[in-house]
Formats: sequence, C-alpha cells, structure tokens
Amino acid sequence: MGGKRVYVTRKIPQSALDILEECFEVSVFPEEDRVVPREILLREVRQVDALFCLLTDRVDKELLDAAPNLKIVANMAVGYDNIDVAACTERKIVVTNTPGVLTEATADLTFALLLATARRLPESERFLRDGKWKTWSPMLLTGQEVYGATLGILGLGRIGRAVARRAKGFDMKVLYYSRHRDLDAEEKLGILYRDKDELLKESDYVSIHLPLTAETRGFIGERELGLMKPTAVLINTARGPVVDENALYRALKERRIWAAGLDVFETEPLPLDSPLRTLPNVVLLPHIGSATIKTRTDMAIIAARNIRDYLLAGKPHTPVNPEVLETRS
Ligand code: NAP
Ligand code: GLV
Repeated sequence: MGGKRVYVTRKIPQSALDILEECFEVSVFPEEDRVVPREILLREVRQVDALFCLLTDRVDKELLDAAPNLKIVANMAVGYDNIDVAACTERKIVVTNTPGVLTEATADLTFALLLATARRLPESERFLRDGKWKTWSPMLLTGQEVYGATLGILGLGRIGRAVARRAKGFDMKVLYYSRHRDLDAEEKLGILYRDKDELLKESDYVSIHLPLTAETRGFIGERELGLMKPTAVLINTARGPVVDENALYRALKERRIWAAGLDVFETEPLPLDSPLRTLPNVVLLPHIGSATIKTRTDMAIIAARNIRDYLLAGKPHTPVNPEVLETRS
C-alpha cells in the first residue's frame, strides 16, 4: 500500500479496479446504473489523492475545493467537457482522458447510426413487430442512398478520420471542416476541405465529431440547419450541446432536413417529455458510441493506469493539461 487514496465514482470492470487496488486504498461507489449523488461525491473526495470519474460526474470548483489532496482526475472518456480543466490546472491537478482506444468503436457506431437513419431501420423494425407488414410495396419504408453519397465531417480528429475511412468503403465523396486543414489526411484518405457553410450545403450526410467547448456549443443551429439540403441527414455522436436541439426539432418536424441520428443530447438521459421522442424521422441512442465490452474495459484500464503511473511515478499516459507536469516537480 502506498498510503494513497482513490475514489471511483461507479462500478468499473474488475481488471481496471485490480490495477488500483494493488497500489492504493480504493473506495468505489458500488452502483452500475446510477450517478453518484453529489453529496456523497463531495464527502468522498475530501481525503483522496485521485478521482476516477465518468462523463456523468461534474468536476468543478466546488468539488476541487472539497478535495485539498487531489492530484489527478482521470476521466473514463475521451471527451472531458464535464471537467473544469482550467480550475484543475490552476490547482496543479492533472486531468487525463482516454483517447484512441475508443476511436474505432465510436466510428463503427457512427456508421451504424448513419445507415440506420438513412434506411429507417428502427422504424422498419417497429413496423414489423407491430404487425403492420401486409405486403411488399414499391415505396414502403424507402430511405436515402448511402453508397456514393456525399458525407460532410465536422471535426477531423481521431474519430472523424476513422469515419472518413469507413465512408470510402461506401464510395462516398467525403468533405471535412476542422480547425486546421490536414493536407496529409486529404491525400491519404482522398477527402476534401470545405468551409463550414459549403460543407453543410453540399453534404447528404453531416456527421459531427467536435469536442464540446465554448466555441463549439451551438455549432449547429437554426442558420446551419437552414443551409442543409431537405434530403440531408444529421448524425451526432459527439456531444449534445454542439447542436441546438430545439432548432433541430423544428427542422425535423417541418421536414426542412430529412432525418437525424443522435447518440448524444443536451440533457442526458434524454428527458421523457423531449419532443424529439415524438418524431418518426429521428433515431435516438443512449450514448453508446464506445460501448463494446473490449473498448469500455480498455477505457477503464487506461484511466486506472493514468492514476497508478502518475501517483507512483509522476507519469500519466494521456494528460489533457500536461503543463501541470512541467510546473509540478
Ligand atoms: P479529437 O481527436 O480531439 O478530434 C476533435 C477534432 O475537432 C480535432 O480535429 C479538432 O481540431 C477539431 N476541433 C476542435 N474544436 C474545433 C472548432 N472550434 N472548430 C473546428 N474544429 C474543431 O477527438 P476525438 O477522439 O475524435 O473525439 C471527438 C469527440 O467525440 C470527443 O470530444 C467526445 O466528446 C466525442 N465522443 C463521443 C463518444 C460517444 O460515445 N458518443 C465516444 C467518443 C467520443 P484540432 O486538431 O485543431 O484540435
Ligand atoms: C464518450 O462520450 C467519450 O467522450 O469517451
């Protein structure tokens, strides 16, 4: 025992817990399907050196003030918009995420969602189960072509590039908009840069792979939806608040765009009274982008290793604020 303490905010795979329990005194919020209540979290962090948290846990100044010994916050996610990174950096607390390991699983899910939305798979399945299938009909449950269509990718990072590679297998024309042009990716993947508005106007499918930041909040709103084709499909497996959900609801309801596939929402879980639930032309998933057994286990292991290797050797693997390491020693 190194005498150091770790709090884990949810039941996680045993292989990840073993990494922590071998070295530290570990306390776990033992539930699988419930966010740790705030008062328990604030109480538990009082003595800890490390926090293993999920994207459902808000790590803000209030929490940091309640945790005077905290040295590392290890998020079991690549996105870290749930964490006030600037406040952590100010207090010399390292923040880590889980990049790379979930890229392919999330890109697979994005493509599954794109196909399911384009070809109306959930609606078709409900139709059959509800006993509505009377006969093969020429235009029954007809969708949009995917093969050979134009895909616009917003945010050409790890997942955006992985989605582009999949799209090439469907002979799609792939456009992208990102903060920086990537000439190497353009050549290797055969993709084309467009500015944001051009991409929205030209694409049959728009897929969002941006992190949620102050700049990307509301990145797709009324104006942007108005630029899209009436036959276009919007896919969001990034973060809900990147899209203005009310504006999206209106665009879908009024058929100004054709459909949307959403894995993420402004409020999660999606409220029972969300009007999105009433629309036939939207496919809704419960934030399962990275949800394969292997990927979720690997994410938990990376988060645990970040804690172990920072607390024992000062070397986290995937810090998002590495400047803390330079100033800490
Ligand atoms: P990433 O590699 O960091 O890619 C993000 C891309 O967006 C980068 O190319 C980045 O540009 C670009 N970008 C950032 N801000 C921008 C802006 N204001 N305007 C234009 N482009 C901007 O991240 P990733 O691993 O692909 O993950 C992307 C996001 O997916 C995560 O942040 C997370 O929220 C979400 N995600 C969701 C799930 C799910 O379960 N649904 C699973 C995994 C990830 P630079 O290269 O210049 O920084
Ligand atoms: C999931 O949404 C992640 O950011 O890893």
